[in-house]
Amino acid sequence: MKLRYLGHSAFELRSDSGHTVLIDPWLDDNPQATVKSDSINADYIVITHAHFDHLGDAEKIARRCNAEIICVVELCSYFENKGLKTHPLQIGGSKSFPFGRVKLTIAWHGSQTPDGAYAGLAAGVLLWMDGVCVYHTGDTGLFQDMKLIGELQKVDYMLAPIGDIYTMGIDDAVKAAELVHPGITIPMHYNTWPIIAADPEVFAARIKALGLKCLILKPGDEV
Ligand code: NI
Ligand code: MN
Repeated sequence: MKLRYLGHSAFELRSDSGHTVLIDPWLDDNPQATVKSDSINADYIVITHAHFDHLGDAEKIARRCNAEIICVVELCSYFENKGLKTHPLQIGGSKSFPFGRVKLTIAWHGSQTPDGAYAGLAAGVLLWMDGVCVYHTGDTGLFQDMKLIGELQKVDYMLAPIGDIYTMGIDDAVKAAELVHPGITIPMHYNTWPIIAADPEVFAARIKALGLKCLILKPGDEV
């Protein structure tokens, strides 16, 4: 499988079987993004929560690509009212799709659509594709149950926010990686605006000091 960073918290995952899954595709107004929503395709779109920098261009992409949106049930209702295809999950729930499996985890954060609609709980995402487990924490503070997430499955890639203010900062994200013990930690949700400025090299050095691996992706980079 291929994982491409699109900037902020947006990622594209492509399976060997040819399925494309987007997570939190905020592109058109994302100062970090190197691709626009009209030049990206998706079969499925996973949304962690409804804040504008995560909901992003999901509606536009889903409509153009006839993609299915996977998110908490309350946010599904919001998209269903717009005539889009959805698949509901709730925290702790999982489901197999043609590309692999998705499970929602807790995330300590809020959620509300840009137009003020109720959107249920914010979530993190565990996604298995081609035998690889990706944990996109969503926007969250640090929580002890991350240890359980790391115990219940081997996380290969942990996508963790480090920008502080709205999410974990570097100190807590380092602790999060220590709890989850992923194969590789990739920082996200930083330097999009001055208010969430963070130095990923500082984060990477501290992850490496724990004996773990850190990979800093620039928007557009792929692994
Ligand atoms: Ni948020
Ligand atoms: Mn956010």
